[in-house]
Amino acid sequence: SESPERRPIKQRLLVVANRLPVSAVRKGEDSWSLDISAGGLVSALLGVTDFEARWIGWAGVNVPDEIGQKALTKALAEKRCIPVFLDEETVHLYYNGYCNNILWPLFHYLGLPQEDRLATTRSFQSQFAAYKKANQMFADVVIEHYEEGDIIWCHDYHLMFLPKCLKDYNSQMKVGWFLHTPFPSSEIHRTLPSRSELLRAVLCADLVGFHTYDYARHFVSACARILGLEGTPEGVEDQGRLTRVAAFPIGIDSERFTRALEVPKVQEYIRELKERFAGRVVMLGVDRLDMIKGIPQKILAFEKFLEDSPEWRDKVVLLQIAVPTRTEVAEYQKLTSQVHEIVGRVNGRFGTLTAVPIHHLDRSLDFAALCAIYAITDVALVTSLRDGMNLVSYEFVACQNSKKGVLILSEFAGAAQSLGAGAILINPWNITEVAAAIGQALNMPAEEREKRHHHNFVHVTTHTAQKWAEVFVSELNDTVIEAQQRIRI
Ligand code: G6P
Repeated sequence: SESPERRPIKQRLLVVANRLPVSAVRKGEDSWSLDISAGGLVSALLGVTDFEARWIGWAGVNVPDEIGQKALTKALAEKRCIPVFLDEETVHLYYNGYCNNILWPLFHYLGLPQEDRLATTRSFQSQFAAYKKANQMFADVVIEHYEEGDIIWCHDYHLMFLPKCLKDYNSQMKVGWFLHTPFPSSEIHRTLPSRSELLRAVLCADLVGFHTYDYARHFVSACARILGLEGTPEGVEDQGRLTRVAAFPIGIDSERFTRALEVPKVQEYIRELKERFAGRVVMLGVDRLDMIKGIPQKILAFEKFLEDSPEWRDKVVLLQIAVPTRTEVAEYQKLTSQVHEIVGRVNGRFGTLTAVPIHHLDRSLDFAALCAIYAITDVALVTSLRDGMNLVSYEFVACQNSKKGVLILSEFAGAAQSLGAGAILINPWNITEVAAAIGQALNMPAEEREKRHHHNFVHVTTHTAQKWAEVFVSELNDTVIEAQQRIRI
């Protein structure tokens, strides 16, 4: 028979991520307005009904005063969210610095920034110190709210130290860590000055998860080569203690998208957009304005396509939604100017008095507009140079059941491993190949489009975010129980 420990009734789940799933705007000294942002993680956890989930994270705003902090804590409590308050200097060194200027580019194979290449530079050291300090601040909030038996699920590259901080406090805590980005080849990871400390901190977790088998393999081999630890099919072993390592590919809440397409407001948008782009084939890019997304490469490939195919010039439009992100980081500012320059050039070159080939927006869309845009698109272009998974490709597929459009997908996105059979896979660095893929997509016979779409649609609607979360959490529970049994033996 199953012990109550194995199938708990409403076990508590503490989800710890750098960013809370809300955007908070201050309305007065002690009042806040909160907007829940329903990203993948939020909808994934809404679906895990066996657990009572709480969120711990940064609200994305600087709140230096106690009145403001108290009011925000109270408002967030209603949404089952618990804030971690980070001061401005910590945000600068930890979030803008170590997380987004060092770990993010490195994990996406873009290398370390030139000025930080020497381990001895002061900026690197102060950023790493702030990173550890920030992780401890997250741990302190977790510890304050922890009750025996809780599951703690830590997320992403911002919180690689958190498993260590938690286990140092209480080795009985059940701690899982999941990485939403790629984990790079050990040859890349070993360039990081703090490579060993980070790996050891992650290994304190009971279960370590990645989107793909390749990322999990890279992590295990980094532990073998850098720390000299033994990798087993189960994970990484250190002096008899096993850290389970496995792949858990994330998905989306596909029903949220398929249902939205039935809503009158979305249907109205669809009608308007169809009218607006009548007579033109619509190609779509939706990306955070991030260097890993390969936006310049995408536009150069589109330019090459227009150059090679004059017959398409006034018949196709590329709609690029580029959502601003991490705007304080210099590399992101440079990228914004670069993208604007290329878009301007292509529009100048191929635009006419009545139409431009690229319709570029520097902002996000609300959910209804996003669904409508996905639904009217003929060809989606995902050209990430590296991407943990890329859920835009999943969202597009979910909204395409009537149109059965084509997905052009980078082979360097985790999604290529799940949607590869239905998509046209491309190497985003090869502009000629991407231009040819655009031609192939635009000329694809209906029957082939249908077959490819069907393959992807089945995958997206069965491998959902809810399933992903359920599998990770139950595996974490099992891992802890197995470890306890091993100790008893
Ligand atoms: C990626 C990361 C997430 C992050 C998101 C948005 O998907 O894996 O952890 O929340 O980008 O970036 P931001 O810096 O705005 O939180």
